[in-house]
Amino acid sequence: MIITVAHSKGGVGKSLLAWHLAIAMKTPIIDLDFQKTLVYTNKLREACGHKKLDIIQPETQHEFIELIDNWPEEKNIIIDVGGFDSNLNRAAILISDIVITPAVDRVTEMAGLYKFHQIIEELSEKMKTDVKASILLNDVSPSSKDFTVIEDLVDKLKHFDLMETIIPHRADYYKLMEEGRGVTELENSKAKSEIKKLIKEIKEKVK
Ligand SMILES: Nc1ncnc2c1ncn2[C@@H]1O[C@H](COP(=O)(O)OP(=O)(O)OP(=O)(O)O)[C@@H](O)[C@H]1O
Ligand SMILES: [Mg+2]
Repeated sequence: MIITVAHSKGGVGKSLLAWHLAIAMKTPIIDLDFQKTLVYTNKLREACGHKKLDIIQPETQHEFIELIDNWPEEKNIIIDVGGFDSNLNRAAILISDIVITPAVDRVTEMAGLYKFHQIIEELSEKMKTDVKASILLNDVSPSSKDFTVIEDLVDKLKHFDLMETIIPHRADYYKLMEEGRGVTELENSKAKSEIKKLIKEIKEKVK
């Protein structure tokens, strides 16, 4: 299963989610972002005495496609793309089994989602297929209950669906990452059960 965490907008939590998912699922990561956030996080992980994750950094689109073409079907992989539009990022969206798009539940974020939907629409038309992205509410206030802004938007945009799992803003997510660890490596935490729920939902969707 190829899971791509993508949004053409920056700073929505793509790398953070890709990191915690990869640790929880014990999968390698393809880091397509020139910022190399996860390569850096992996160095922190090693410095803290933990076994590094396998992070692959293809240099060209050709190298990336070749890697994916030869990827064994039974093995999972997470792709973290940069927060911009590029041919490489578009290729990642097209080859994935599921595209997860983290989104913050704020009216001001909706323009970014429209833009990303346009990209998916273009890809769908070009490939003559219905490309989909699953919107994942991320970094929401733990007390938020009303998500009608995003629910209404997703209803209107045919290439999007809304994931049931919601990832709140939690210190565990960024603090663990700063130590190069994943929330599922904790004994017990709300963040750990949220990531587990997310993985279960991803598996059900891809089935
Ligand atoms: N659920 C969350 N709880 C707490 N902090 C979060 C959460 N999600 C994201 N953040 C924080 O938001 C910031 C942006 O996250 P991240 O770097 O993962 O975004 P990104 O989409 O990968 O950005 P870019 O497009 O620049 O690569 C980081 O400081 C991260 O720790
Ligand atoms: Mg990132």
